[in-house]
Amino acid sequence: MSRFYDEKLNDLTTYTPGEQPQDLSSFIKLNTNESPFPPSKLAIERAEEELEKLNLYPDPEAKALVSEIAKFYDLKSENVAVFNGSDELLSFCFQIFCPNGVVFADITYGFYPVYAKVFKREVIVLPLDQDFRINVEEYFDKLGTVFLANPNATTGIALPLCDIRALLESNPNRLVVVDEAYVDFGTESAVTLVKDYDNLLVVQTMSKSRSFAGARLGVAISNSEIIKDLNRIRYCFNPYNINRVTLSGATGAFLDKEYFDKCRGEIIKNREYLKEELKKLGFFVTDSASNFILAGSDKISGEELYEKLKANKVLVRHFKGGRVENFVRITIGTREQTDVLIDKIKKII
Ligand SMILES: Cc1ncc(COP(=O)(O)O)c(C=O)c1O
Repeated sequence: MSRFYDEKLNDLTTYTPGEQPQDLSSFIKLNTNESPFPPSKLAIERAEEELEKLNLYPDPEAKALVSEIAKFYDLKSENVAVFNGSDELLSFCFQIFCPNGVVFADITYGFYPVYAKVFKREVIVLPLDQDFRINVEEYFDKLGTVFLANPNATTGIALPLCDIRALLESNPNRLVVVDEAYVDFGTESAVTLVKDYDNLLVVQTMSKSRSFAGARLGVAISNSEIIKDLNRIRYCFNPYNINRVTLSGATGAFLDKEYFDKCRGEIIKNREYLKEELKKLGFFVTDSASNFILAGSDKISGEELYEKLKANKVLVRHFKGGRVENFVRITIGTREQTDVLIDKIKKII
C-alpha cells in the first residue's frame, strides 16, 4: 500500500475473479459462467452502429434500453434502471439500502461479503443445509437487508417463488434483493412480484443468458421509489456509467427474443446431459437450475480435478477452503465442449 492509502481501509478483502487467460483459443473455458455463444446478430449490429459516435457521451437515462427492458417484462420504464454490470448495481445496494446490516447464505455469490466489508455492514451469515439448500424461514426474523441469489451462486439450486413471497411477507419493512443472474436457465423470476411488493428489488444481468458479459450490463427491476434511489446514487458517481456501444447492443439483444430462447434452451439441454453423464461416473451433482453445476466425487478432490483439467486445457472453477472445497463448479458450454469435458474427466479418474 502506498503512503497515501487510507489505513481505515487496510482490512479490505478483495473479490477474486475467475481466471481470464489471454490465449482464449487454447482453453475450453468453463470457469466464469459466461455464455459459450456469441451475442445475437442484432445486438452486434446495434453495437456497431454506435462506434462512430464514440466522441459523444451516452444517454445518462438509457431511455431506449430501459424502455425495451420494461416492455419485455410488461412493466413501466420507471421500474427499471441499468448499470455497468450487476456488480455495480449490487455495490450500490450495499451502500444505500443496508442501514440494519445484511443477511446472506454461507455459500453464495462471493461479492456479497466483499461489499459488506467495504461499506462496513453488519453481517448475518445463514448456513445452507447439508444438501446446500436454503431454509427460507431462517431469514424471517432477521432485520438486515436480505441478499438472495436465485438460483444460488456456486450451487445453482433455485428457491421456488412461494418461498420468495413468504420472505417478502415475513417483514414488509425489510428490503429483499433477489439476485437473478442465472434465472433464465430454469427458475421462475420474482419480477412478477414487483407490482405486489414494494420491499422487493430484482437484480439481473446480461452477462449469462444474453451473451453480453464483456459489454457489462446489469438491470434493476423494482418499484419506482427504489429505482429513483438507485439513480440518485448513480448520479453521485457516474451518470454515464454505461457506454454507447453497450447501451445500443443491449437494446438489440433484448429485441432478439428468438436467439435468447435458442441459446438458453441449448444450455439447459447440455446441463441436463452433463448432470446425467457425471452421475454415471459416480459424481454428486447439485440440482442446478443455472448455467453451471457444482460437482464432486470421492475418487478425486476438487482441487486435483481442477488442476488436472487445467493441464488438459479445460478451465473450471475451484474454491479453496469452505464447504465446497471438494467440488468444482463447471459452466455449461456447447455440446461439443461438454463432450470434450466428459472425455477428459473419464480419463482423469
Ligand atoms: C449471483 C451473481 N450475481 C451477480 C454477478 C455479476 O454479474 P455481472 O457483474 O457480470 O452483471 C454474478 C457473476 O458471476 C453472479 O454470479
